[in-house]
Amino acid sequence: MSIDNVGIVGAGTMGNGIAQVCALHGLPVTLVDISETALAKGLASVVGSLDRLIKKGTIGPADKDAALARIRTSTSYDDLKDAPLVIEAAPENLELKIRILRQLDGLLAPEAIIASNTSSISITQLAAVTARAERVVGMHFFNPVPVMALVEIIRGLQTSDATHDAVRELALKLGKTPITVKNAPGFVVNRLLVPMINEAFFVLAEGLASPEDIDAGMKLGCNHPIGPLALADLIGLDVCLAVMNVFFAEFNDSKYRPCPLLKEMVAAGRLGRKTGRGVYTYA
Ligand code: CAA
Repeated sequence: MSIDNVGIVGAGTMGNGIAQVCALHGLPVTLVDISETALAKGLASVVGSLDRLIKKGTIGPADKDAALARIRTSTSYDDLKDAPLVIEAAPENLELKIRILRQLDGLLAPEAIIASNTSSISITQLAAVTARAERVVGMHFFNPVPVMALVEIIRGLQTSDATHDAVRELALKLGKTPITVKNAPGFVVNRLLVPMINEAFFVLAEGLASPEDIDAGMKLGCNHPIGPLALADLIGLDVCLAVMNVFFAEFNDSKYRPCPLLKEMVAAGRLGRKTGRGVYTYA
């Protein structure tokens, strides 16, 4: 089955970014979310990002119009039923993802592929709730999706070679560089990245330095493009916490305990850029 159009579940930061990249590379996209408000917000974010690319001269106004014309939005899963590939980009919650995968499994053609953009949840476990485990795979994009070059392709225990190869080919078609990773909590990148971010919250909580100095330390001392606390704000503190919770539960190792300050900020609704306030405050 050739991947000539893509369904996406979830119009949030990752879902709308993936929709934009697919549409810019010529693929019709059906973007589904539970509310018109979420879809409108997702589309507004695509428009803003396309405008940035126009300003940079990466694309022209006609490319923007063509990309937007390729994105169809819907609040009904039924509109996904003809998609050869659906990428699930819902919030990082196991029960929710299981519900979505079951729903997609009952709806899609038997040969269709379901990919999850999960940051840390087991692809093997998600695949097991469907009757197509060999056609379930992880396709993990990075934020901001239009800018970041990587896609981690995660093979669950039962993911077939054909499924792996099909999504790898798609990632290349989208101008991304894929790496292939075996299923394990956090895969490769988040296994390394999120514990570092969590440690930055411990450093902050211990009062060792100001947020600005912690971030300047890692920017100037390690050549990171932004510091770990600013990155947490970009990723979403809730996502960082969800990933740490998966590590703590799955590895059963205290080195992965989420920092209490990170938990406090999430409890307060300070989720980062998307809520206007995380470690830092945004206009
Ligand atoms: N759409 C289009 N272009 C965008 C964009 C977007 N959403 N966001 C940034 N850009 C472009 C800007 O237009 C700019 O382009 P030029 O340099 O060509 O002018 C460029 O990206 C840099 O942007 P800014 O100048 O605004 O700001 P910056 O220099 O701080 O870069 C950044 C922003 C690209 C996000 C950079 O800070 C960065 O690379 N940060 C690290 C990002 C990162 O590590 N992401 C991975 C997070 S982990 C994850 O996503 C996985 C997970 O599961 C948690």
